[in-house]
Amino acid sequence: EFKELVFSGVQPTGNLHLGNYLGAVRRFVALQETHDCIYCVVDLHAITATLSQPDLAAQTREVTAAFIASGIDPARHIVFNQSQVAGHAELAWIFNCVARLGWLNRMTQFKEKAGKDRENASVGLYAYPALMAADILLYKATHVPVGEDQKQHLELTRDIAIKFNNDFSEQIAARGYGVGETGYFPITEPLIGGPAARVMSLRDGTKKMSKSDPSDYSRINLTDDADGIAQKVRKAKTDPEPLPSEEAGLEKRAEAQNLVGIYAGLSDTTPAEVLRQFGGAQFSGFKASLVDLAVEKLGPIGAEMARLMKDPGHIDAVLADGASRASAIAERTIAEVKDIVGL
Ligand code: ADP
Ligand code: NA
Repeated sequence: EFKELVFSGVQPTGNLHLGNYLGAVRRFVALQETHDCIYCVVDLHAITATLSQPDLAAQTREVTAAFIASGIDPARHIVFNQSQVAGHAELAWIFNCVARLGWLNRMTQFKEKAGKDRENASVGLYAYPALMAADILLYKATHVPVGEDQKQHLELTRDIAIKFNNDFSEQIAARGYGVGETGYFPITEPLIGGPAARVMSLRDGTKKMSKSDPSDYSRINLTDDADGIAQKVRKAKTDPEPLPSEEAGLEKRAEAQNLVGIYAGLSDTTPAEVLRQFGGAQFSGFKASLVDLAVEKLGPIGAEMARLMKDPGHIDAVLADGASRASAIAERTIAEVKDIVGL
């Protein structure tokens, strides 16, 4: 019904946190009013770090529950699980043959995730960005809401689309598959921004809040109860100064900046607005207000997730319905791409 199509994904790697919510899921919810949206639980991405994961099915249901509990409507839009739609892996293989080694060698997330023992990282972890390009372009998505950490991968997606469109321009034109001036695939726009595009760890303002951080106190999980949220916020690292009244006063104060950004994200305002209210306040007082706000906003989501998780059959039915609707789009793209490249 809308002209623009949104696609995004979240990995079922457990520990869904406030950064995932503010940087991604909450924005998925808002985009439903203006775009056709496809939201995917990307389990094929989740196995790039460790293939054998006994909790993968439960974690897939948990991300699905988080989507629904946050306000994503799987009846109006599409919610599904990546491995149930064969086109993702098929298009990823073709994109592995489009992407250049030099492009992937520049990906900083691979370097971070592979760590020092790079020789022992899976080939899947290395090729992850080509699979992500396939996820997006399989549906010819025009917009992708993501956190800031995904910016470089979105650029690679655009490079793959541009190269494919160029390399096969004659075949595309001859078959009449082209879309406007661009060619076959759209040049997808990332939607990154807002005060919480990069939520940092509560224990270390230089590291992003992450599912894989070994410290539970580094992140607020969507499944945390009010006590858990309160403990984590109270323990969050800060500095001894009171809050400044202007944003410039947050420079070089990573932890303060992070908490103010989280408050702004949760209250749908801006850091400047938060500082107008809290400038001059001590952290003890600000943290108490942040706890109240976080419990008010996240409490109902956690409770609804818990309720949904009690009925795994219902979640599986939602995913099966989404997969069949996603497959209908994906199969057409795969047939056309095969035709274009001569397979
Ligand atoms: P993670 O990075 O936590 O393992 P995913 O890779 O599944 O999670 O990311 C899901 C979405 O959440 C992506 O759009 C990603 O950019 C976003 N995201 C992840 N961590 C953060 C964060 N700390 N701040 C803001 N957005 C984030
Ligand atoms: Na990520």
